[in-house]
Amino acid sequence: MKLHLNSRDTYGTINPKIHGQFIEFLGNCIDNGIWVGRDSKIPNIAGLRTDVITALKKLEPPVVRWPGGCYADTYHWRDGIGNPKNRPISFNENFGTYEVDYHQFGTDEFMTFCRLIGAEPWINLNLLSGSIQEMKDWLEYCNRKQPTSLAKLRQTNGHAAPYNVKYVGIGNEVWGGGGSMTPQQYAEEYRRYATAMPTFQKSLFDKAHLYKIASGPDGNKPQERIHWTQDLLEALSKYRQPAIDAIDLHFYNWNIKHKTDTPTNFTPEDWTRVIHNAYELDDVLSEQEDLVTKGLANIPIPESPLDQRLNNIDIVVGEWGNWHQSAFTARPALYQQVTMRDAITTAISLNILQRHCQTVQMACVAQMVNVLNSLILTSGEHTILTPNYDVFMMYKGHRGGHVLNLTTISPDIDVFASVKNNLITVNLTNTTIDTPQPLTLEFEHEVQLQTAEILNANHVTDYNNATHPNAVRRHPLTTDKSIGKQQTFTLPAASITTLQFRCIESS
Ligand code: AHR
Repeated sequence: MKLHLNSRDTYGTINPKIHGQFIEFLGNCIDNGIWVGRDSKIPNIAGLRTDVITALKKLEPPVVRWPGGCYADTYHWRDGIGNPKNRPISFNENFGTYEVDYHQFGTDEFMTFCRLIGAEPWINLNLLSGSIQEMKDWLEYCNRKQPTSLAKLRQTNGHAAPYNVKYVGIGNEVWGGGGSMTPQQYAEEYRRYATAMPTFQKSLFDKAHLYKIASGPDGNKPQERIHWTQDLLEALSKYRQPAIDAIDLHFYNWNIKHKTDTPTNFTPEDWTRVIHNAYELDDVLSEQEDLVTKGLANIPIPESPLDQRLNNIDIVVGEWGNWHQSAFTARPALYQQVTMRDAITTAISLNILQRHCQTVQMACVAQMVNVLNSLILTSGEHTILTPNYDVFMMYKGHRGGHVLNLTTISPDIDVFASVKNNLITVNLTNTTIDTPQPLTLEFEHEVQLQTAEILNANHVTDYNNATHPNAVRRHPLTTDKSIGKQQTFTLPAASITTLQFRCIESS
């Protein structure tokens, strides 16, 4: 098999924020997973697990979405600020968490977490049980530079400088846990919240503004997701439009119909089905891009030159990942192990998101730690990096790259390539469970291999745990580094390979 690569035949730019992460007060994601508290025996930096911070610093997640998810719609930000001893205690029932909630990880702890790992914060507002005033106050607390009471409160809590939060989600899954709303109802709510949101502009014509993210469709409902986007845009097209920068689509690769298929025990048929189903995200994105384009085209030209016409809406995918049946009864809630099957669907999903980089500007895997398609699992004092962590590490080279136009060479090999600063990053995913695939890469110009890494396992059901933390770990490939136009590899079954080539010829 041959793959032809031309680093001059490209489109789009991959927004690094496509490699974002999602954290929520759910199961052991934040409590125990990220946050252990300042008095814990587990090594920590201001209450945040040192080993988790160390791993994430290497990964550099560009954006982190918080506090939910469904939890966002029960969250009152004032519960999570100030002296930790004085914070209220409530009960967290989110997705079967069923734990007492001490509110020790609040806004200031989240911002510290983001700063330590080099991520930008995305705050998701409470649309269901919060209020517009609460939203305004929260953002004032986060961002106000001038010495207002809320800015001073932030200062009293140890943070004089504003956090400059840019990404703000207005509601979460408002068609479900976020209020069972119709698109028309949501459009009305959205108008009010978006209009009342502080701008933090320096002048009326200052372009700096908060990036407002509307609740997008349920990507897993083939009929409803079409109507949602159509009807929401239709409702927003009537009269004046509030500012809207993106819609937040959620898509889970559901694997809940086959009870004998568990995260670490599955048949070759289960393997093939779950991998095949991950490709639905591609169809969903193409369909949503089309709906957004058509919806925007229907928006009338405003009567006054002072009124803004809504003419662009990005797509963000605020939650994505594999969701296996066993997660529903798992303790802690929604905990899942991760094998090469999940690593491969993670690679496929990142490829899809990156291929749609002209519209998809941000995405967050669900979730970063201990929940669903995790990158990190914790077990008491142990921190375990899952194969998904390796996939994200192996994809870092694509951030900011331009996507190479490639022709499909085989339904079994998912190929993605991008170029940045004369460096071509190629990902080759052999999705078969048992068939190695020989492959020749043929370049338009001379190249030299710089780095080569592979992620695979002795057995596809292998996973990392406290006893065997590196059972499935990426490792360097020994390969030919001579200059040339061709390179031949054999991709082992069920593997992900990342190669980086330096372009030698520039003409
Ligand atoms: O990620 C778990 C849950 O899935 C989130 O809270 C919710 O937004 C989604 O339904």
